[in-house]
Amino acid sequence: TRAIRIAPSILSADFARLGDEVRAIDAAGCDWIHVDVMDGHFVPNITIGPAVVKALRPHSSKPFDVHLMISPVDQYVKDFADAGADIISFHPEAGPHPHRTVQLIKSLGKQAGVVLNPATPAKMLDYLIDDVDLVLVMSVNPGFGGQSFISSQLRKIEAIRKMIDKTGRDIRLEVDGGITVETAPLAIAAGADTLVAGTATFKGGPDQYAANIHALRGG
Ligand code: DX5
Ligand code: ZN
Repeated sequence: TRAIRIAPSILSADFARLGDEVRAIDAAGCDWIHVDVMDGHFVPNITIGPAVVKALRPHSSKPFDVHLMISPVDQYVKDFADAGADIISFHPEAGPHPHRTVQLIKSLGKQAGVVLNPATPAKMLDYLIDDVDLVLVMSVNPGFGGQSFISSQLRKIEAIRKMIDKTGRDIRLEVDGGITVETAPLAIAAGADTLVAGTATFKGGPDQYAANIHALRGG
């Protein structure tokens, strides 16, 4: 069995105390810090930009896993790379040229991830998978925390696990949306190795973060 990584989404953190929140989840044993970037155009919500990523960077030395929900993508990739992102993921529909975006992220020395929305088939990866470092399967429609896990995505995770194993490369398979102690084992059984969790990490306040993260790993 593979080691499970937990990537708390700071979308569910207290935005008035973001630096402290990042320190708290780091101390609580998370693996990555998941940053949800929304532009009010590709998704119906607006969150944070490169200035906030830069401000948070000194608060943790763990990888910053930056999930871009912005369209178009390319014009802001360098800003997030410079701000301290380690992994930069984007939605191919945000366009216009997903393959070019992967090359751009890699040219900046960062890991590149492709994100598939619930209605986007695994097949979207056919001509991208050989170049990416991570595939992120959305198990909710992007835009908000606290939504329910869409079970049909388990089949997609299984299919992508097979695709990844066939490449023989170390590509992370991440799942994002509605991850709880109930759904985490399903995602892991389907082949996921990295779990994003907003609500389930931050519930109960800082005293609970370590226990929440431990529970998501499978206890
Ligand atoms: C949704 C974001 C997710 C979200 C997850 O667009 O990409 O990262 O914050 O939140 P939970 O874990 O609460 O479903
Ligand atoms: Zn996300």
